[in-house]
Parts: sequence; structure tokens; C-alpha cells
Amino acid sequence: MLIDRFGRIITNLRIAITMKCNLNCIYCHREGQKESKKENKTEMSVEEISKIAKAFKELGIKKVKITGGEPLLRRDVCDIISSMPDFKEISMTTNGIYLSKLAWDLKDSGLDRVNVSLDSLRRDVYKYITRGGDVNKVIDGIATACDAKLTPIKVNMVILKGLNDDQVSEMMEFISNMNSESIKTILQVIEILKLPGLEKYYKDITNLEKEIASKAEAVILRGMHFRRQYKIGNVVVEFIKPVNNREFCMHCNRIRVTSDGKVKPCLMRDEGIKVVGLEGKELINAIKKAVNLREPYY
Ligand code: 5AD
Repeated sequence: MLIDRFGRIITNLRIAITMKCNLNCIYCHREGQKESKKENKTEMSVEEISKIAKAFKELGIKKVKITGGEPLLRRDVCDIISSMPDFKEISMTTNGIYLSKLAWDLKDSGLDRVNVSLDSLRRDVYKYITRGGDVNKVIDGIATACDAKLTPIKVNMVILKGLNDDQVSEMMEFISNMNSESIKTILQVIEILKLPGLEKYYKDITNLEKEIASKAEAVILRGMHFRRQYKIGNVVVEFIKPVNNREFCMHCNRIRVTSDGKVKPCLMRDEGIKVVGLEGKELINAIKKAVNLREPYY
């Protein structure tokens, strides 16, 4: 089992498999990887990813999420999934642009579910936020992912002041229509991380949460980050509020691997321990060293 110095048990692993993306969202934190560094461009091979995943599995990781960049840009993405050891859950965060093409193959390879980034349903707003994306492709992608049972799908909506902060209810309506028979899709309302340059978009989502909470029929408290989910009709809405949230960090059970093969203890910190190329005991020890570096950011 992986436990850090603060008693937090690490059960979730996020592996970035590429830094490339076909969108260029105005708020993207690039999973904490700096864009400019040359080494970031080196992507791990299927074998390297699989070896690292197996080591984490041995150490007690239960769930793995494949991230990017945009993971669907890798032609060998299905090989990456099928080479994974048997985790309780394998999921992926995607922008959904290629999902309508790939959903069935992903399911066949062993992917359980997807998180899809969709910050607005309005064509022009989506295009502005993503710097050129076509929202209809994402909507088609979500529908195909539903058919292929990559469910429950989580729709990630990052709240951006002045751009989409008035659109939570229309997103809920969209999800409600998709969930007509059963709950296949959950809405995650995410507070933007204030990276340098993003302050102008920052909006505290406490009031949005209060508004939804007042209408909720049921509240579910999750272990992960101490997040709250609200149920309204056939829609489940979860709030993710990391900024200045000590509970969020105290209940953080995840660790990351960057696309160039470093274990990253915290999204918000620059440090990382190189693990690519290591094997056996050396690999296990490097992972444990990274876990020891974990420290709550807030
Ligand atoms: N703040 C909050 N979430 C972010 N994401 C990316 N950048 C940020 C940011 N600055 C998350 C969103 C998005 C996923 C790919 O990464 O959840 O959907």
C-alpha cells in the first residue's frame, strides 16, 4: 500500500500519455507539465507505460486514469489500454473530439469509462474557449460513448467568469435529456485553478454550489477530495473546488505520471521523480520516493 507522510492512502493514478492536443483551451494547466521543456516531447512507449502501471498496481493502486494532452491523438492508445494490468477501473479524460470514431474500440480494449471536457454547449463560446473546437463533434462523441457504455461519463465543466458561468442549468438540461432512461452522465462543475494569467476568469463556485444544493433531493459525500454530489431529478452534479480548500488536499488520493515518465506528487508543484527506464526494485523505490514528497498544497 502507498501511504504518504500525511497518512493519505494513494489509490488513484493518472498517467499522461502525450502532451499533444488538437485544442488549445485558454485555461489549460497541461496536467502540470511545462510546455516548453524539450524532454516533455518524449512520449513513453506502450511497454514503458505498461511496466510503470504494473509497478503501481503491485503497490496497491486501484484506479487509473489516462490523460494528456489529448490521449486519443496517440495511434496506439488502444494498445496502451489493453497492456494495462487488471485495475478496478481504467478511465480516460478526453476532449471528446475523436470519441465518436474511437469509443467502441476503446471499450473493446478494456476502457471502463470516460471524462469529457465540455465547458459550453454554445458553438461560439466553445470555439472561443478551445481556440477553434467544434462543439458538435464533442456532443456526438458523448452520445457514442453512451452507446458504447463508457459509462458513467463525467462531463467536466470548468467555470470561467463571463464566459460560461451562466450556463450550468443548460448543461444540466442537456445531461438530463441524455439520462432519460438511466444515469449515464454526471456533471462535474470545476473551479478554475488560478494559474498565472487566469485570474480574470476566476470565479468562486461556492454560490453556484449553494444554489444547486438548495434544489437537491439527495447529497452524496465522496471520499475523493471530500467532494459533494447533488442529485436533482435524473441529474447528478458534483462540485470540484480545490482553490484554498484544505479538505480537498487532505483527502487527495491521487498521484501522476507525466508523459515523459516522471512521477509527479502534486499537480501544483514542479517536482518529479524520473521512473521511465527503471525496473524491478529501482522502479518501486523511485515511486516510493515520489510518494514521500507528497505534501498538501493548501
Ligand atoms: N483549472 C481547473 N481545471 C482544469 N483542467 C485543465 N486546466 C484547468 C484549470 N486551469 C481540467 C479540466 C479539464 C481537464 C482536461 O483538465 O477538468 O476538463
